[in-house]
Amino acid sequence: MALRNRRLRSSALLFAAAGALVAGVLTGSGTSQAATSQPCDIYASGGTPCVAAHSTTRALYGSYSGSLYQVRRSSDNATLNIGPVAAGSYANSAAQDSFCSGTSCVITIIYDQSGRGNNLTQAPAGGAAGGPDNLASATAAPTSINGHKVYGVFVAPGTGYRNNHTSGIATGDAAEGMYAIFDGTHYNGGCCFDYGNAETSSNDTGNGHMEAIYFGNIKVWGYGSGNGPWIMADLENGLFSGVNQHLNSGDPTINYRYLTAMVKGTANQWAIRGGNAASGGVSTFYSGVRPNVSGYNPMHKEGAIILGIGGDNSKGAQGTFYEGVMTSGYPSDATENSVQANIVANKYANATGGGTGGTTLTPGQSISLRATTACCTTRYLDHSGTSVGTIVVSSSSSSTDKGNSTWIVRAGLANSSCYSFESKNTAGSYLRHQNFQLYAQAGDGSSLFNQDATFCSQAGQNGQGNSFSSVNYPDHFIRHYADVGYVASNGGPNTWDSATSWADDVSWVVSSPWTP
Ligand code: AHR
Ligand code: AHR
Repeated sequence: MALRNRRLRSSALLFAAAGALVAGVLTGSGTSQAATSQPCDIYASGGTPCVAAHSTTRALYGSYSGSLYQVRRSSDNATLNIGPVAAGSYANSAAQDSFCSGTSCVITIIYDQSGRGNNLTQAPAGGAAGGPDNLASATAAPTSINGHKVYGVFVAPGTGYRNNHTSGIATGDAAEGMYAIFDGTHYNGGCCFDYGNAETSSNDTGNGHMEAIYFGNIKVWGYGSGNGPWIMADLENGLFSGVNQHLNSGDPTINYRYLTAMVKGTANQWAIRGGNAASGGVSTFYSGVRPNVSGYNPMHKEGAIILGIGGDNSKGAQGTFYEGVMTSGYPSDATENSVQANIVANKYANATGGGTGGTTLTPGQSISLRATTACCTTRYLDHSGTSVGTIVVSSSSSSTDKGNSTWIVRAGLANSSCYSFESKNTAGSYLRHQNFQLYAQAGDGSSLFNQDATFCSQAGQNGQGNSFSSVNYPDHFIRHYADVGYVASNGGPNTWDSATSWADDVSWVVSSPWTP
């Protein structure tokens, strides 16, 4: 309570700095005062305060000036906390960019802004999958809010965050609400890209032991109209789109680039709501009694928090998370509508470019990539059939060698903020890694191929050109080693992960294409 009052008192000051939406007057402590209303201020004024508030993009209280998240860089394992640029404002991504410059960073902690310490960290092993899960790249989900570049949490399959020791999160049949903002174009049919309430043991302990927002197009349990993706509720041993176990046609396919997803539940009552996080309101896709399947009424919520995984640590799903909260109490539709207005006013929009620094790549452009290690400055990344390595290329080289060392830049097959590289002379064949070696192979449209063929660009680690990190293994970079192409991690377990010549071997000068 003391914490909340402090927030209310100072929040009026913050309005100008944060440029945030004023939604009204907070009267919770008996005195009326104008205040900045960020989502958790709005939930508090509705009588359903946040008990967890997570975002790598912005403060979710008008007065919050603490850390939003922590990044760890691979060069020396140092960590840095990233906060908002001012209380109540957007994340200081410039601090991250400078700290991670010349190396790669992962997100180690997503702090709880509610004051309850419900931080999200690397998920441990669970009943369905070993662990610890992977950490997300800190740079794979660039976005902007109100015109400022910030980063979301890009969850590739295998990535997951969790807190099994929470405070204040609903248990049993107690009431709660939650919302999250996702990238509605990044999902899959794996289990289960969730944010919300789950088991404290990381095991499936039975129906009704979870209550989390799910987003994706798996049809093993429930589904809605169209082909998906859908917002559903993960209630354990079932993703529910409404009262029925399988189809509830009121739950629409929804894939806005920025998607607001809401789930709330109380005694024999729950709801799914959603909409476009960049415009308009939220609609109700289900509101009514608990599912007509045994085990979900009453609920047996346990109060852990998950992000990117299922209750039992199933980790085959993918998605992108920008912000989300969990409340105590069942929020009114009116409160949620005000939260949606705040989200829309915050103006989520695409950020240009992927990582930072280096030569800007433009999809459609043809390039050649020249090695920068002293041995090899006349060598270019090439393929011969499906084999990938480097070869010496000059103006007198054969047209085959020139074509083999020319790549067409494409928007990343798995992440349009990043890039894929299509062979100039073998249309449809992309640079991809497999068992950490690079190949040029025909795309098969699978999620695995698309991820293996997507690389995020940043400034070259030796100060020349660009370095390219794998979207599904963000600490792995395109490297030449003994003239063969790999994705390598600095000092990792394979011979090609050698720390010797690391920065040079992963730095490539983006050059004019040998075959224009
Ligand atoms: O309810 C769907 C999934 O089933 C849960 O996330 C997981 O715990 C179980 O495998
Ligand atoms: O290259 C690493 C992994 O190896 C790829 O993601 C997968 O295709 C293969 O199993």
